[in-house]
Amino acid sequence: MAKAEEDRFYSERLLTLNPRSTDEYVKGIYDEWADTYDKSTAEAGYIAYKTCPPIFDQFVRENFSSNPSKLRILDAGAGTGIVGKVLQNLGYTNVDALDISQKMLDEAKKLNVYKEFICAPLSAEPIAEIATNQYDGLICIGTLTIGHVKPVALDEILRIVKPGGIIGFTLRRDAYEESGPEKCGYREKMSEMETSKKWKLLRCEFIDYHLNVDELRAKCYSLMYQVL
Ligand SMILES: C[S@@+](CC[C@H](N)C(=O)[O-])C[C@H]1O[C@@H](n2cnc3c(N)ncnc32)[C@H](O)[C@@H]1O
Repeated sequence: MAKAEEDRFYSERLLTLNPRSTDEYVKGIYDEWADTYDKSTAEAGYIAYKTCPPIFDQFVRENFSSNPSKLRILDAGAGTGIVGKVLQNLGYTNVDALDISQKMLDEAKKLNVYKEFICAPLSAEPIAEIATNQYDGLICIGTLTIGHVKPVALDEILRIVKPGGIIGFTLRRDAYEESGPEKCGYREKMSEMETSKKWKLLRCEFIDYHLNVDELRAKCYSLMYQVL
């Protein structure tokens, strides 16, 4: 995407992120952005928060064949809670929110869609507040991305979802296809986890990501895995 075009919607600092950006740096960006995040993403036509949850919902329902309201779900990188709202409309009423930015979580609290709020980074370190095998499902939209949640954090994501549980997330095209200037490493980590039979791929598809920006951000990958 032409840099200037993305700048119309997203802050200059977001464009400075790279695979080596620190958690502190990305937290600072979102703390500053929290009160205008919904406005700028809406202007960019950000839509993945609506297009990905129904796919996650389909696999959760097929897998658990039960009322989703009973299932314990984590919205990882919940941000201002717009994904939680969509999940609530799909019948999920036992959803927790995790985010590195307390300011983003403060916005999410206003929506009254989450039970617990966990302010912590998803990283290689285990999150003290979350015991192993806690969740039936985990959804992570727009967050496993360059400079945000790094590939090593997939081990922690796997730890907190119970065997049989569903993990659904989006990945930007350049991150998945390794077509950017720097190697991201998501693809390699995902394959390694498949080969070592930690999870299995249920579906990988191209979904709408943004409506008002160019080709690179118009679509992203939606990936659904089941923990083995
Ligand atoms: C692009 S926003 C997406 C928010 C929400 N999922 C949505 O679709 O609107 C990315 C979110 O990830 C959070 N984040 C970035 N790095 C993180 C990390 N290592 N651990 C947890 N959250 C992180 C940011 O604070 C931000 O709220």
